[in-house]
Amino acid sequence: MNNPVTSHPKLVTSVAQLREILAGVRREGKRIGLVPTMGALHEGHLSLVRASKAECDCTVVSIYVNPSQFGPGEDLDRYPRTLEADLEALACCGAELAFVPADGEVYRAGHATWVEVGSVAEPLEGRCRPGHFRGVATIVLKLLNMVGPNVAYFGQKDYQQALVIRRMVEDLDVPVEIRICPIIREPDGLALSSRNAYLSPDARRRSLVLCKSLHLAGELIDQGQRNARVIAQRMRQVITTAEDAQIDYIALVDPNTLEPVDEITGPTLATLAVKIENTRLIDNCLLEPKR
Ligand code: PAF
Repeated sequence: MNNPVTSHPKLVTSVAQLREILAGVRREGKRIGLVPTMGALHEGHLSLVRASKAECDCTVVSIYVNPSQFGPGEDLDRYPRTLEADLEALACCGAELAFVPADGEVYRAGHATWVEVGSVAEPLEGRCRPGHFRGVATIVLKLLNMVGPNVAYFGQKDYQQALVIRRMVEDLDVPVEIRICPIIREPDGLALSSRNAYLSPDARRRSLVLCKSLHLAGELIDQGQRNARVIAQRMRQVITTAEDAQIDYIALVDPNTLEPVDEITGPTLATLAVKIENTRLIDNCLLEPKR
């Protein structure tokens, strides 16, 4: 039987040191995988690390709570910071490098360049969180430039983020492959998220309405319902069974363009953002109607 991998990743805090180490890795002809995170690592992140380990020789996990993707009044200050536990978790799945830059290492004095991605960044999260994707695209491009990975891994839980990054990489000719890995859920269906840590036991129970409403959308489609408005309305009814749930959006959209669909004729993304007890949760599901 194989022993579990328990060697700690090498902790790197400066871009210069990171580049020096990775230049050596590249010289040996090894493939580099990047898993960008904001820390507070859970099984969702670790599934990305495992995906990278499966196809790359050196996995770099960046841990950086990026201030530029938080809007005024959002949770930047209280976002969970759990570095020690994160490094332990990375040791267990064998990540080689943890890149944990200080703020000054990322946004140096005079920083004035931002990446704005067009249409795919505009609806849904883009509308609810103005400036969010500008911050995400900028930090991800910076991390790609710092690490120079062959492959970078993102979770489908942040579906729109993954599309935004794909668009940016395509438009700006960034030489990296983008992998989007499946959502990891708790046994009762709740999608894993670092923000689940904010939920009280009661809010945690109420949060199940998100995955229940997505499940219902799938069932309705299996039963032959093709009207997106009817499906969204039924999803809304499920969400409103949770006391105090505030819906930011419930949408059925084209999975490539994120444009709303009226009639389900092909693969469709059901996606939603809901606040439960002031914690904003997102979830989504790709629906494939049977012919
Ligand atoms: O998905 C996240 O955790 C963040 O948006 C990312 C991609 C690490 C950029 O800060």
